Amino acid sequence: MINEKMQNAFNDQVAAEFYSSYLYLSMAAYLEDNDLPGMANWMRVQYQEETFHAEKIFDYVIERDGRAEVKAWEAPPKEWKSALDAFEDAYKHEQKVTALINSLMDVALAEKDHASQVFLQWFVNEQVEEEASVKAIVQQLKMLGDSKAGLFQIDRELGQRTFTPPAAAAE
Ligand code: FEO
Repeated sequence: MINEKMQNAFNDQVAAEFYSSYLYLSMAAYLEDNDLPGMANWMRVQYQEETFHAEKIFDYVIERDGRAEVKAWEAPPKEWKSALDAFEDAYKHEQKVTALINSLMDVALAEKDHASQVFLQWFVNEQVEEEASVKAIVQQLKMLGDSKAGLFQIDRELGQRTFTPPAAAAE
C-alpha cells in the first residue's frame, strides 16, 4: 500500500498534469484563432498526452490501494504574442513539469518507495522527450523569423502529428 505522503504528492501531480492539458488546449484555441491549424493540432495532441499522464498517475494511486483525488486547477492563460511565444511558453512549462517529476522522485527516494521509483522512471524519460520535442519547434520558429512561407510549412508539418496512447506503444 502507498503511504500518505507519497499518495498526496501523486494527487498533486494529477492536478498539475490536468493543468498542463488545459494549458495546451488553450494554446490550441489561440493558434486556431490565428489561422495555424497544424500547430493547433500539435497542441491538441499534447493535450491528449497530458490527460494520459494524469490518468496514468491516478490509476497508479488506485492500484497501490491509495485514495486518488481530483483537485481544482487554475485557468491557463489564453493569449500569447505569437506562435513562437506560445511554444516558448510550452517549453518553459515542460521544464517546470520536469522539476515536479524530479521532486516526486525525491519523495519516493526519501520514503524508500521502490515501486514508485520504478513507476516514476517512465515519467523521467518522458520529460526528456517532452522538452526535446517542444524545444525543436521553438528553434525552427526562431530560424524562420518573419517568413510566412516558413510558418506555413511548419504548420503543415505539425498538422501531421497524431496521438498514440503510450500504453499501446512501447512503455
Ligand atoms: Fe505531462 Fe508534458 O508533461
